[in-house]
Amino acid sequence: MSSSSEIHVIDPASADSAHAQIAPVPRVSLQAFCETSDVSSIIQEAIADRRMQKAHVKLHMGGAVAAVEAYRESPTPNVIVIETTLDRAALLDHLDALSEFCDSGTKVVVIGRMNDIALYRDLMARGVSEYLIAPFGVVDFVRAVSELYSAAGAPPLGRVISFFGAKGGVGASTIAHNVAWSISRDFDIATIVADMDLGFGTAGLDFNQDPPQGIADAVYAPERLDANLIDRLLSKCTDKLSILAAPATLDRMYDFDESAFDMLLDVLRASVPVVVLDIPHTWSAWSRRLLVSSDEVVIVAAPDLANFRNSKNILDTLRAARPNDAKPKLALNLVGMPKRPEIPVNDFSDQLELPASAVVGFDPKLFGTAANNGQMIGEVEAGNKIVPVIDDLARAIMGRAEIKKQKRAILNPIFDKFMRKKAS
Ligand SMILES: Nc1ncnc2c1ncn2[C@@H]1O[C@H](COP(=O)(O)OP(=O)(O)OP(=O)(O)O)[C@@H](O)[C@H]1O
Ligand SMILES: [Mg+2]
Repeated sequence: MSSSSEIHVIDPASADSAHAQIAPVPRVSLQAFCETSDVSSIIQEAIADRRMQKAHVKLHMGGAVAAVEAYRESPTPNVIVIETTLDRAALLDHLDALSEFCDSGTKVVVIGRMNDIALYRDLMARGVSEYLIAPFGVVDFVRAVSELYSAAGAPPLGRVISFFGAKGGVGASTIAHNVAWSISRDFDIATIVADMDLGFGTAGLDFNQDPPQGIADAVYAPERLDANLIDRLLSKCTDKLSILAAPATLDRMYDFDESAFDMLLDVLRASVPVVVLDIPHTWSAWSRRLLVSSDEVVIVAAPDLANFRNSKNILDTLRAARPNDAKPKLALNLVGMPKRPEIPVNDFSDQLELPASAVVGFDPKLFGTAANNGQMIGEVEAGNKIVPVIDDLARAIMGRAEIKKQKRAILNPIFDKFMRKKAS
């Protein structure tokens, strides 16, 4: 659950619902678990509101019990809405159970009928973002969701994940595109790939798109750059995945200054949950700035000496520039290329002091077919053993692997206690 410690109680009796401006809801995924038809029909109407157009909403019945069941195995969306008619103790029990499965960044909105300060405090302590007292109107619901992201001090919605090759041509773009596809599909979450290789980028080719506009129009029109312009420049690849394609023409020089992409990043962060930056292998003020300001960096490297040296330099530079962030992740690619002498994967990661989050084998048939068809490898051959490697990398980037580990950590003490009891 979100760690936000401030809870907002929306009581429609006191809310001035008719007049206040409501910001459009960004591209969040929202799942609501209702108990009564009154609330579910209000949410149904809210989905049709113009300010909710970009949100992906799924409506279920079954309240807190169904929510806990739904997320036992699958990742949680950006927002979970739970209507409850349970008493306080039962509701808190269910929220505690849910918190075990909640991904960080997921916001929980509870809809109840009790106007009870002790309950508010308990909900706040559990990281609940909003408590709505039923009955309420359609606009009250839209406002509550909107304010999760637009209220002053609300953390930005989007996570920016940069992919950077330790050397040219090591497959950084290929891995970035496949991971973005995997995130959008497995997490069912809106994802944008921004192709930062303006001269030669391949996102358009890889996703079989030939858009007339793309990232250049965003960068060269900073005064017009907002969520609406981005919407027009995106090419939709699937329901959840869009790209901001590179022009890949050479009629302009793409020597940007350091802050050229700041505005773009701000707008992307505010409007979409996952932003994948496909950064070309160049070392410039702007590429360094993009890497430093990303939430997560993935270094893609082939197992040879030049890649090792460059990976080490990138790691050291990023560690110095962002000492309070997690280390980048390492994806080793093109592993096992016939006849090429290689640094063994374990030596490469041991010497870097960075375990590889993914080891992707050299498979020219698979990757060549995917590139020629404008498809992802999961579309070309879903059963190929590289597909789960990409999916695992996507999960590690999204913090899912860590969450599973945490879950084990939570379970272990119980298990230990059980074993000790058995032994005595
Ligand atoms: N594991 C792999 N096995 C075989 N071929 C691969 C593999 N990964 C990527 N490729 C191929 O390598 C080529 C280069 O890939 P890509 O364009 O992704 O590299 P890059 O690191 O982004 O390059 P640049 O430095 O230009 O940004 C592509 O033709 C791609 O299909
Ligand atoms: Mg590239």
